[in-house]
Amino acid sequence: MELHPHEIKILDVLDEKKTNKEIAEESSLGLDAVNRALSWLATKGLADMKEDITEEITLRSDGILYAREGLPERKILELVGDKASIKSIQESLGKKEASIGLGWLRRKNQAKIEGDVIWIINRGVKADEKLLKLLSREEELSSSDLSPAQKKALKFLRSRQSLLEIRERKILWAVPTKEGRRVGEMGVKESISQLTPELLISGGWKDKKLRSYDVDLYVKPTYPAKRHPLSHLIDRIRMVFLSMGFKEIKGPLIESAFWNFDALFQPQDHPARDMHDTFYLKEPDHMEIEGFRRYKDDVKVTHENGGTTGSTGWGGSWSGETAQKTILRTHTTAVTCKHLTKLEKTDLPAKVFCIGKTFRNEAVDYKHLPEFYQIEGIVVDPKVNFRNLLGILREFYEKMGFRKIRFRPAYFPYTEMSVEPEIYVEERGEWMELGGSGMFRPEVVKPLLGFDCPVLAWGLGLDRVATQNLGLTDIRDLYISDLGWLRNHRVL
Ligand code: PHE
Repeated sequence: MELHPHEIKILDVLDEKKTNKEIAEESSLGLDAVNRALSWLATKGLADMKEDITEEITLRSDGILYAREGLPERKILELVGDKASIKSIQESLGKKEASIGLGWLRRKNQAKIEGDVIWIINRGVKADEKLLKLLSREEELSSSDLSPAQKKALKFLRSRQSLLEIRERKILWAVPTKEGRRVGEMGVKESISQLTPELLISGGWKDKKLRSYDVDLYVKPTYPAKRHPLSHLIDRIRMVFLSMGFKEIKGPLIESAFWNFDALFQPQDHPARDMHDTFYLKEPDHMEIEGFRRYKDDVKVTHENGGTTGSTGWGGSWSGETAQKTILRTHTTAVTCKHLTKLEKTDLPAKVFCIGKTFRNEAVDYKHLPEFYQIEGIVVDPKVNFRNLLGILREFYEKMGFRKIRFRPAYFPYTEMSVEPEIYVEERGEWMELGGSGMFRPEVVKPLLGFDCPVLAWGLGLDRVATQNLGLTDIRDLYISDLGWLRNHRVL
């Protein structure tokens, strides 16, 4: 049986029936600690407890005065020989005190009064006087500590006005049970909750018992700071890609149309560039583009006639002015395609990923927001093919805990072949679209990388997966600072 050090201390002193106050004194524990430990002992069947009400007695101002100077009847006894006239007593004590004193002398059978004369019969010091003295010495007495004679005396003192202050107080009685006595006598090894350097050095820990934690104990909930569930999920995704041998890359939220669209072989009249989808910046509405001089000519010919890629291009004439427009990136593919320009042949195979915010002018509803996260990645490797792409995506979703995954044919201007991965959501009994993927077309790869090479690419939505993963039904809830939800949501 596990015993708290306080319980052990109490069992040590509890050899017979005792009050909590006595136990507190003997064990040098505080009264609260004793009460608490006693109730633990009672639930463990090691002690029985009984509650009693006692009266705590203290002197009031008249009581203090009488204890010092003597009760009026004592004053009379001191004043008078065998007999005296009542008048003479009244003269020396005052009428009021004389009559109180005389009354009590009669009641206590210490004097007889005949007419105007008082005869003293008994001068003995009575129990009530003794109790008064005792009270002035002890300051406080408990009625349960009084002898029968003292109890009778208390009745006398009580019936007099403004002598005593009496307050009711609960006391706790405890007796050891048979088992409690046995445990107490055996002397339980003192258990400790902390292993100190001193105990380690002295070897004293060998005789101690280390107290185990009681994990069922109720504690007030605390809400320490923790990461937002969404940040936490992003970290998990990051770990999955890192564990698959990918390196993380980052890019700016404000991009040029060039890196967001043109470098990805998206025609300049593509509907996705419309004001409806893309947020164009007013200030600055055009920007200097990193690497523009080096890549713009290759991108231009590829758009107009395919250049050296073997493609016929989109035709028409490509405008550098349109490419320089400033936008909020609509996908993180802007980051991965720019990364192609940083790679040399000797860097291959290269595997990178990027997790970041993207922006589109969408009407807000339970599954759409104008800003959302994408999980982007590319594998640049002469040896990879389309099946590797499906394998990587499947592995990623399986590591995220999704079991049923399928791929649907899709179209993107910058990939061929293209697919959309989907996961099956059991709760809703439907397939959920997750984003796009495919193999970058030579029209993208050749101008940026400088040579043709298979590039597996994907851009997956994160927020829908997050909503699903965090047990939410509305994408907007991800960004609402609902403290209750944030506090209670378990971050696994
Ligand atoms: N960029 C596409 C989107 O935002 C997804 C995609 C990325 C598709 C890479 C193919 C290759 O929907």
